[in-house]
Amino acid sequence: VLHGETNRMIKLRRQMLQDTNIHNMADAEKSDEVGGKRRLAFLDMLLISQLEGGGLTDLEIREEVDTFLFEGHDTTSSAMGFCIYLLSQHENIQQRAYEEAVAMQGREKETMRYLEAVIKETLRIYPSVPSYSRKTQEDLQIGNITVPKGVAISVLAYMVHRDENNYPEPEKFNPDRFLDTDRELHPFAFVAFSAGPRNCIGQKFAMLELKLALSSLLRSYELLPVKDFVPNPLAELVMKSGNGIQIRMRPRK
Ligand code: HEM
Repeated sequence: VLHGETNRMIKLRRQMLQDTNIHNMADAEKSDEVGGKRRLAFLDMLLISQLEGGGLTDLEIREEVDTFLFEGHDTTSSAMGFCIYLLSQHENIQQRAYEEAVAMQGREKETMRYLEAVIKETLRIYPSVPSYSRKTQEDLQIGNITVPKGVAISVLAYMVHRDENNYPEPEKFNPDRFLDTDRELHPFAFVAFSAGPRNCIGQKFAMLELKLALSSLLRSYELLPVKDFVPNPLAELVMKSGNGIQIRMRPRK
């Protein structure tokens, strides 16, 4: 079903490019239809590179689009769900985030120090991608252990984020950890978006999406706890809660 939808989108957009006589990047940059002087949309870039003879097959384009749609959607909605749960359970933290959301209304693209710390702290406790793998390209020395070349290793972000050396009382939801400028965190202490050359390319987009959605929600509703509800995080490809997310909401006056 999903591949069908992606194929449909690709076909429609290709037709649109052809109808507006766009055959290469130069045409596209001149046209208002695909964004004028603004940067090209991702799918347009792939389609135009195909029209220019760039060598991408339809299947390859579909795979790229699927990667962006699904890496981008499920991860962000997982973070959103766990974040509203945590805010519903922590009244004072929610109040600070609410005050910032009111003060920053319309300027969410700018730094929102507190809400950004809230989102990072959510992703620390419930990383949307709880583990990921790499294959060693050469022998790797870690302390007194040698990991041989060609071995698959898993990074358990969920566990990395519970290292007490970096995060005292790791199960406690405390966004101030990410505001505490006196204490330098280890550069790889927070790996919700992975690290290094293959880290998440959607990280900035995801943060912006979460900031916009959460601030608008906080401005309109008070999030209240459901007594005794505790989510059951499942370590699937993308983390979700086995028993859902339960909160109560009250419209703000
Ligand atoms: C809270 C939201 C997100 C989290 C926690 C997250 C996390 C991650 C992680 C951990 C990886 C590395 C996975 C691995 O190496 O196996 C990754 C890769 C990737 N992410 Fe995200 N992601 C998020 C949102 C997004 C969004 C919104 C997009 C696109 C619009 C996106 C696109 C990608 C892509 C294309 C890769 C593969 C990069 C590569 O292999 O070079 N992600 N993400």
